[in-house]
Amino acid sequence: MRILGIETSCDETAAGIVEDGRRLRANVVASQAAMHDRYGGVVPEVASRQHLEAILPVVQAALQESGYAWRDLDAIAVTAGPGLAGTLLVGVSAAKALAYAWDKPLIAVNHLEAHLYANWIDDTGSKEEPPFPLLGLIVSGGHTDLVLMEGHGRIRRLGRTRDDAAGEAFDKAARLLGLGFPGGPQIERVAADTKASLRLPRAWLGQSDDFSFSGLKTAVLHVVRGERGPPPSVPETAAAFQDAVVDVLATKAARAARREGVRGVLLSGGVAANGPLRRALAERSPAPVFVPPPILCTDNGAMVAACAAYRFEAGRAGWDLDVTPSLAVDETGVWG
Ligand code: KG4
Ligand code: ZN
Repeated sequence: MRILGIETSCDETAAGIVEDGRRLRANVVASQAAMHDRYGGVVPEVASRQHLEAILPVVQAALQESGYAWRDLDAIAVTAGPGLAGTLLVGVSAAKALAYAWDKPLIAVNHLEAHLYANWIDDTGSKEEPPFPLLGLIVSGGHTDLVLMEGHGRIRRLGRTRDDAAGEAFDKAARLLGLGFPGGPQIERVAADTKASLRLPRAWLGQSDDFSFSGLKTAVLHVVRGERGPPPSVPETAAAFQDAVVDVLATKAARAARREGVRGVLLSGGVAANGPLRRALAERSPAPVFVPPPILCTDNGAMVAACAAYRFEAGRAGWDLDVTPSLAVDETGVWG
């Protein structure tokens, strides 16, 4: 089964083709990061317009990369939520039009569930399939969720962020440090090789599986403003910030994995591209950790296609498919 996956929930216009839920045939991503860097974040109206311009060329490029013709596809999958309403609508409209014109099934996908399925994609031809039950840590620009996955379509949310998402915290801290957007890769880059002596606060929230990052952001603000003595260097502050986020994420995920007795841990979402986080989780986790290659951690269409293969029936959508901007990780939308 060959599925085309379309993704426009935030600022990447993406299309991917995956065969039988695992084999990667194409993955094309047109990032708008440079455009949004000018404004220090994603401007929804600008993003929607960019998606509109890029979507068909991106789909065409994915087909070309795969070597397939549209006739060879078995279904068209698309992210229907969560995300920005206006940007989601561009992808959903394009997917509907293509599915209708090509006479293929239309499959709606939950973006957060799709991030988890990036771990099923076997880009090397030798990767093991993750064994259930699994713990999933989804860390992206808009979400931070800890979930228990007992099977396909059997996801229960254990914890979530109570304020900022992990990626959002990276983006805001980077902005305070005068670094570009998106902030995660910038912070990782300037923090590399720096061992921070500064220690920033961690919000543990007792035994809860929830997270909180807004206090950390405020702590960075105080440090940058010199309210705690002469401001340390940018690499020093960036490293201290990254240490604090990584420590909380890895410690809490490892603790939940032990408690739930899982057989594997799935790391996913844009922040999963972070090297120190990958290493810290691998060291502390009681079960094997699965992490997609960085290009499949950030938003992409291949993960949407992979997810659709395992959630084909649940995702079957009609021509009245609408977007669900606030869909939670453990919710299946009413796809019509
Ligand atoms: O999953 P994603 O591409 O989009 C959303 O669904 O939000 O995640 C984007 C987020 C941004 O906040 C970005 O700063 C963060 O992922 N990110 C990183 C790294 N690469 C991307 N954060 C930390 N380290 C990285 N290397
Ligand atoms: Zn995402």
